[in-house]
Amino acid sequence: MAEYLVEVQSAVKKFKETTALKQVTVKFEAGKIHGIIGRNGSGKTVLFKCICGFMKLDSGAILLDGEPVKPAVAQDIGIIIEEPGFIGSLSGFKNLKLLASIRREITDDEIRETLDLVGLDPKGKKHVSKYSLGMRHRLGIAQAIMERPKLLILDEPMNGLDKQGVLEMRELFKKLNQEGATIILSSHYAEDIEALCETVCEMDNGELTE
Ligand SMILES: Nc1ncnc2c1ncn2[C@@H]1O[C@H](COP(=O)(O)OP(=O)(O)OP(=O)(O)O)[C@@H](O)[C@H]1O
Ligand SMILES: [Mg+2]
Repeated sequence: MAEYLVEVQSAVKKFKETTALKQVTVKFEAGKIHGIIGRNGSGKTVLFKCICGFMKLDSGAILLDGEPVKPAVAQDIGIIIEEPGFIGSLSGFKNLKLLASIRREITDDEIRETLDLVGLDPKGKKHVSKYSLGMRHRLGIAQAIMERPKLLILDEPMNGLDKQGVLEMRELFKKLNQEGATIILSSHYAEDIEALCETVCEMDNGELTE
């Protein structure tokens, strides 16, 4: 494994009206929890989308374990970016089962274990359309971690969670990190960053400072 799991080299991403990433250069070491903070619209989500292969850079490069990023499904990354989309007329388990069938890496029991880990009822029949906001977020976290990826990209993973939920998810992220996952997360809550992250950088108007 490369020393830096993710290397962003002079990344530039422009939209019509804004330059969302202005020569962003940063390296994320394997095995750690890294935090990114920054105001609304500063470019955090765009950076995450580029790391995941959802968006292409205008110039620069992003290396994942020493190799240029590939399209998202081909990579070993667990992702929460903005509101995860689920099928409302299916249960949480069935949604995860459908997603797990893409890669066929995990069993139904592993899906149930993951639901339990995020505090959702593994046997629950409730359709996702009837989930509360916090339940949907928990399902989003389950989707991201269920295949135990080596890299977790978590864009504001604590949104919509109550106090207890935030504490539970902090413990869960720490546990996954201890089991070997590298985590890059953004949060607007200083306490999350303090409690979890070994490195912190700040995005400001498309520029990243450590
Ligand atoms: N698909 C897009 N088309 C045009 N502009 C975009 C697009 N995606 C993002 N932007 C712009 O890029 C800039 C950075 O947006 P981004 O979503 O990365 O901010 P953010 O740091 O994640 O903010 P927040 O804290 O609100 O989530 C903003 O000016 C935004 O309007
Ligand atoms: Mg964002």
